[in-house]
Amino acid sequence: MTEDTETLRDRIAAELIAARGRTTLLTTVVDEADLVRQHSPLMSPLVWDLAHVANQEELWLLREVGGRTPLHPEIDPLYDAFEHPRAKRPALPLLAPDEARGYGHEVRGRVLDLLERTTFGETQLTDGGFAFGMIAQHEAQHDETMLATHQLRSGLPVLAAAAPAPAPADASSLPVEVLVPGGPFTMGTSTEAWALDNERPAHVVHVPAFYLDTTPVTNSAYAEFIADGGYDDPRWGTPDGWAHRPRAGMLERVVERVDLRVQRVPAADLAQQPQLLLVRDVREVPHQRGHQRRVLLDQVRLIHCRGEQGGAVARRDQFRRDPVP
Ligand SMILES: [Fe+2]
Repeated sequence: MTEDTETLRDRIAAELIAARGRTTLLTTVVDEADLVRQHSPLMSPLVWDLAHVANQEELWLLREVGGRTPLHPEIDPLYDAFEHPRAKRPALPLLAPDEARGYGHEVRGRVLDLLERTTFGETQLTDGGFAFGMIAQHEAQHDETMLATHQLRSGLPVLAAAAPAPAPADASSLPVEVLVPGGPFTMGTSTEAWALDNERPAHVVHVPAFYLDTTPVTNSAYAEFIADGGYDDPRWGTPDGWAHRPRAGMLERVVERVDLRVQRVPAADLAQQPQLLLVRDVREVPHQRGHQRRVLLDQVRLIHCRGEQGGAVARRDQFRRDPVP
């Protein structure tokens, strides 16, 4: 055994243990009811993530690297992310929280034993500890997913974090955006052993100059962008990206817009004077069978004209859809 191999084992063990620590925190700060409940149709129940990380760990390390027989092959389909969309996972006969914890504990114990006996470099999966690193990263990714689930959960908060650092003193005087010069950029890696296939090999790409905001986008600014029809405006996308949307049937596409009338609404606050704007959009809406269908979309938009900033914010208050004759 070389020192490098020992160091690699220590690093793998530390990464696996760190990820499990986060998983344990995220799944012990709530009660069983919260673990099995679906907090958003966008997310799995937390107990699904808990057993899924153990199942992937068993699949790739115990079975593929270690050549072991499956511990519980009957549960594999339940935790295959491609088999069941997140919205339908609560209806599956999932392992109960205690069963999921027990499964994860059993798999992890066997994996740490396997790690002690693994000679790295004999196969593509073990070269540089690739499969072990992949599994540690996979659990870390699910920790992020579970954190997002926590943020969508209602009820009293159960997690605490340090207050963010105060904004730099010059934050308010920064320009809105800066020009980043174009030039060559090395993308990907040819040396990082735990990189995935789609991150290899390292290659040089030329990036044209672009503008970048000097501060992160706030939720309210992002909401303004959406409400203002930003996703319907080709100016804010690349030509390739804009052309891809209708091809992929991903989103409605505005093909015609007619402003019908503008009605000014009195407002006491002159700095934020709202107006009602009725517009008629003709949109192409993806059909289930891939055909496009044209609909009329009447929208009443409340426009806030903020005189001191010169900007406008739109909010879709109501809309009605009718098929285009
Ligand atoms: Fe996963």
